[in-house]
This record gives sequence, structure tokens and C-alpha cells, in this order.
Amino acid sequence: MSGKKTPKRYGWNTPVTAIGPQGGSMLRSIKSITSDPLTYLEATWSEFGDVVQFPIPKPATYLVTSPEGAREVLVNQHNETSKRTLQYNNLSLVTGEGLLTADTQAWRPRRRMLQPAFHKEMVALSVNHIEAGLAKLDAQWLELTSEGTAIVDIDHAMMSLALEITCGALFGIDVDDDVDEITSATLIALHGVVARARNPISIPLGFPTPANLRMKRAIKRLDKAVDAILSSRNLSKLPADAPIRDMLDVLLDPDLEIPLTKQQIRDEIATFIVAGHETVASALTWAWHLLVTNPDELQKLKNDPTRAQLVFDESLRLYPPAWVITRRTLSDLTVDDVLIPANSLVIVSPWLVHRNPKAWENPTAFMPDRFKAGTPQLGYIPFGAGARLCIGKEMARLEGSQILAHISTTWHIEAVHNSQVPIDASVTLRPVAGMPVRISRLVK
Ligand code: HEM
Repeated sequence: MSGKKTPKRYGWNTPVTAIGPQGGSMLRSIKSITSDPLTYLEATWSEFGDVVQFPIPKPATYLVTSPEGAREVLVNQHNETSKRTLQYNNLSLVTGEGLLTADTQAWRPRRRMLQPAFHKEMVALSVNHIEAGLAKLDAQWLELTSEGTAIVDIDHAMMSLALEITCGALFGIDVDDDVDEITSATLIALHGVVARARNPISIPLGFPTPANLRMKRAIKRLDKAVDAILSSRNLSKLPADAPIRDMLDVLLDPDLEIPLTKQQIRDEIATFIVAGHETVASALTWAWHLLVTNPDELQKLKNDPTRAQLVFDESLRLYPPAWVITRRTLSDLTVDDVLIPANSLVIVSPWLVHRNPKAWENPTAFMPDRFKAGTPQLGYIPFGAGARLCIGKEMARLEGSQILAHISTTWHIEAVHNSQVPIDASVTLRPVAGMPVRISRLVK
């Protein structure tokens, strides 16, 4: 811990209630904060401990990295926090006020309304879409490996596969020809979100800077995908008493207590396209990275594909796609004995919570077997926690485990990169320059 003196206030009357870096040192670190935020956060945590205050006057900004602190913010004090943070406000430029970004009042009835689309039996239906997506991937890879081996970008492959599964399972649509355009529009839009959140002077989206124009084009492309989904369902309307097939049926249900407006339907579809595929793809990409750089674990998975769930859960621990979760405090909170005043920004970091030795033995080692005893209550938050827990958690775990099991028993996959793959910490964790791997068909 540092014994450096901290000022009593950071300006705008913002009190200092926890230790943390000084303004000068943070200014000197600006380049590494933007280029490699994970390393900066790790260094800050190791120097100052589990609750850190940054020298930012408005809003007062805290980093929370202890398992108990994360639980306090996300679960126990859920009613005393809000999603009106810079990060979620910027994300809503892309997703609108969908379930992910909506704040408590709008969120509560919406979550109740959408929950049936994620009941166990509905999630089980996504198996058909997972199998169809994998069959398509096998066919593409067979063509590529007709001469023996091929090098593929598994990150790109996982993005396409996850998008096809999401659109098939939630909206009953085959996005086949549009996959590349939609995945790339998603990435461009999300990069825009992060760039805006990291820039202290955000220029309004309406102002035609090159970055704004790029982001607007990407949002327009996502809107086109939403329109295609809606017009496909207009062609296959259900009789009034038919059981729901997927989430789109729920959104369009005319018997809802308060039927959704056009804009609300658009926002939910855009939310689920974005939240439902990029996260799963990121998780799978890093799972492959961990497997090809730990060939013993890959071999164990080939021998026993039922291990896929352990592998996926452990990959999510080491590479949680949502590496920060933000909240604004609505009242004074006490987290790990530190007072966090009302109106502060709290950054809970799954990346750091999952590396905290208070929760994990040998935290940086890839050890899928540690999940044999189940997922712990404390210190494991890849899907968040509490009332705002990811609604797609079980769908994602099913998708992740099925995909790992199928590919590892059908294809031989080898690393072509070093064990160090630079990480682009965007809205989710992505490899900076894709994740090339060498593939060949396994002879059974
Ligand atoms: C490995 C994959 C996934 C990861 C790591 C992940 C992560 C998360 C996290 C951390 C949150 C909570 C955010 C917060 O508390 O501020 C969340 C919420 C959410 N996720 Fe996921 N997610 C994944 C897959 C999915 C899938 C497959 C879907 C949709 C099919 C989805 C849709 C959502 C939605 C709509 C919310 C907002 C829920 C609410 O506030 O009620 N996610 N996700």
C-alpha cells in the first residue's frame, strides 16, 4: 500500500474517502490508461488495495475489486444504485433504452416481460440453432482444409457463429448473407462507445466528425438488421393462441399489459443483437486461446467433452468479456469500510475480482477443475450479480459449452501465435489483431 498523502478534496467539493493515485501520476499514466487499461487497473489495485478512489472530482470515481465489495454494490445495494453512468449512457446511443441500459423504473417491468423468453425450456430450444450454426461452420472449414490444414481467425469465426445463433434463437431469422456486415457494424459501434467514454470531451453524435460519422453508419446498419428481423416476422405471424416461439414473439405480443412502442421494440432487438453475440464470441475466443496454449487441457477436453462447461466457466473467470461493470450511487454507501458518497461512479471490475486471491487460489492459472465443485457464490461475476444478472446467462453457458465440445472433438486446433495475445479492452475483451489458429479435420 502507498503511504503517499492524498488531498482532502478533489474540487467541486468532492471528498477523498479512499486512497488512490494522485492527480499528477494519473495524468502521466493517461497513455497507458487508454492503451492498456487492464494493466493500469491491475497496477492500481496492487498499489492501493480493494477499494481505490481516482483523483477525479466529478463524479467521484471508485474502483471496487474485492469479492465482498462487488457483492455489496451489485446485490445488497442494488436499490441504491443506478445505471445512469457515462459508460451506459454512451452504450445507449447504440442500443437505445433496451433492457441492458434501462434504469430501474423502466427496467423492472421490461425484465418481468422478457423473462419467459429465457425460461429453461426456451433456452433448451437454442440447441437446434447451435447445431445448425456448427454444421455451417464445419462445412466452411471442410472446404478450407480440403488440402490438409488451414489457418483461420477463430475470433472472426466465433463472432459469426454467435450472431447466427443469437438471431436464430431469439428472432427466428437466418442472417446468413449479412453476418459480416452486422458483426462489423457491432464492433465499430461498440468501439465508438468506448472511445466516447474515454474522451473527456465527447462531441455530440450529431456533429459530423469522422468518428461520429463512422459510428452513425454502424448504428444505421444495425437498424437495417432490426428492420429485416421485423419484416420477416410480419410474414410469419402466429395465431393468437399459439405458444411463444422466441423473444420476438414476446416483444410483439399485442396482449401485453402495455404493448411496446416501435422505438421500444427496436431498442430491445438492437440490445439483444449486440449483447447476445459479441459477449459469447469474446468468451469463446479466449477459451480457445487458453486451450491452445494449455494443450493438456485441450487433450482432456477432447477425451471427455463433458468437461466443456468447466472449461467455459474457467475461461470466463480469466477473460470476463464484461471486464468492468459501472454504477452510479444514489445514496451514501459503505463498501469494504469505505464511504462512497451519493452520486459517485463505482467501477466493479470482474477482471480484478476474478484475480483476487481472497476468492481464488492460484488465481492466474487456467484450472477448469476448480469449477467441479460448482460456481462459487462470491468472487465470480462474469454475468454480473443480483437483480441485473445477465438474462442470457444460461443461454450463453449452453452455447459456450456445446461449441467447445463440438469443435474440440471434430477439429484439431493449434496455436500459431505466441502465448501473449494483446488484448483490446473495448466494451468486451477482444484480441487486438484477431486470433489465428491452425485447423485440420480430426480423423475419428
Ligand atoms: C458469455 C456471454 C455473456 C456475458 C459474459 C454477459 C455479461 C453480462 C453482464 C456482466 C451483465 C450485467 C451488466 C450489469 O450489471 O451492468 C449482462 C446483462 C445482460 N445481458 Fe449478458 N452476457 C453474456 C451473454 C448474453 C446473452 C447470450 C444475452 C442475450 C441472449 C445477453 C443479454 C443481456 C441483457 C439483455 C442484459 C441486461 C439484463 C438486465 O439488466 O436485466 N447476455 N450480461
